[in-house]
Amino acid sequence: MNDLASFSSLLSAEGQALLDDVRDITPGQELAVATRLRRDHPADLVSAAIAQARLRQRAAAKFGEADARRMYFTANGVEQATRTSVATHRAQEFKALGVRSVADLCCGIGGDAIALARAGISVLAVDRDPLTCEVARANAQALGLDGLIEVREADVTEVDTEPYDAVFVDPARRGGGKGGGRIFDPEAYSPPLSWAVGAALGARHAALKIAPGIPHEAIPDAADAEWISDGGDVKEAVLWFGTEPGRMRATLLPGPRALTGRGLPDPEVRSVGRYLYEPDGAVIRAHLVADVAEEVAGGLIDETIAYVTSDTLRATPYATAYEITDRLPFNVKKLKALLREREVGILTVKKRGSAVEPEELRRKALPKRHGPNAVTVFLTRVAGAPTMLLGSPAHPATGGAGS
Ligand SMILES: C[S@@+](CC[C@H](N)C(=O)[O-])C[C@H]1O[C@@H](n2cnc3c(N)ncnc32)[C@H](O)[C@@H]1O
Repeated sequence: MNDLASFSSLLSAEGQALLDDVRDITPGQELAVATRLRRDHPADLVSAAIAQARLRQRAAAKFGEADARRMYFTANGVEQATRTSVATHRAQEFKALGVRSVADLCCGIGGDAIALARAGISVLAVDRDPLTCEVARANAQALGLDGLIEVREADVTEVDTEPYDAVFVDPARRGGGKGGGRIFDPEAYSPPLSWAVGAALGARHAALKIAPGIPHEAIPDAADAEWISDGGDVKEAVLWFGTEPGRMRATLLPGPRALTGRGLPDPEVRSVGRYLYEPDGAVIRAHLVADVAEEVAGGLIDETIAYVTSDTLRATPYATAYEITDRLPFNVKKLKALLREREVGILTVKKRGSAVEPEELRRKALPKRHGPNAVTVFLTRVAGAPTMLLGSPAHPATGGAGS
């Protein structure tokens, strides 16, 4: 049975019953369960149901347990899909622009299409891969959104997007070969970024999802660039068109908390103060460290490092504050002695501008007899010199800073 036939069989009554049966299967149970089920069901169908159950379990981290259990996935599809938190935020942005219909070009298994439809937007969801289209269709139906999502199997470069209020493109950013590594060159995306920018410029509104590491020089002048993190992890960057050209912003989820750049010059470098602020990754990628530094009345510890230091403790959603207790040149023996003296048992290692492996340092520096105390060590550079800053999270009273 090919992949498409095997997926279609999962949608039959027998396939659905099998999916229910294997829903909570653990890897250790697979062999025994498969052997039992194969007595009464085709072996192909049993394998497809078990593989789908595994994908659903993996997808729960992105889509939440309740949706993931009803949805369908392919291995690539779950890997490349936009998580619900991010897709929902984007759908709300489209909605706020007054968009009522979107051509979702490169829809995959439908991560974005689903969020758009749930925001009440009607979606043309296009993908060139037949199995992926079937899965997207099944997802729209499983979630009761098939009235708002039309799935079309086509090459996106051949789709007329004129009838839609907006275009969204989420190009494939993985190589096709075995292992399918990430692609860093935007022109190697499928379709290439230059095609997507052309499509965006021809639309009333558009958003293009891109890798967060995109060099700022590659961002077109007409774009409004947004970097998004969720729970402190940077997830993606988006180029918006038809909004505010040249805008740079960081969006932190949950929230959202949105920081918009004001074109501030780089912050001054200053001596390490009582507090160290670690900006959120989206803030760093959006080059908005200066905005955070201004908010906390701080400066940089080094001109090449995105740590902000200040003598003032201020609440900000855009950075995590630490109170610094010690500053010393990088030296594992000294660190070990200090941790022993302070009876440290929990060591969090953070680094910027250091090649040291955190795990290795933890192994070497933590005392054999673990004490009750916790410390964070920052491995970094101060005025060019490899430095260790020790401290612990500081908890400013909230309410002082706005979004
Ligand atoms: C990153 S995934 C999209 C994920 C989707 N936004 C989601 O949240 O589920 C990219 C998709 O683009 C499709 N694709 C790549 N090039 C295409 C093209 N020229 N035409 C149509 N689809 C294409 C791939 O088949 C893949 O499913």
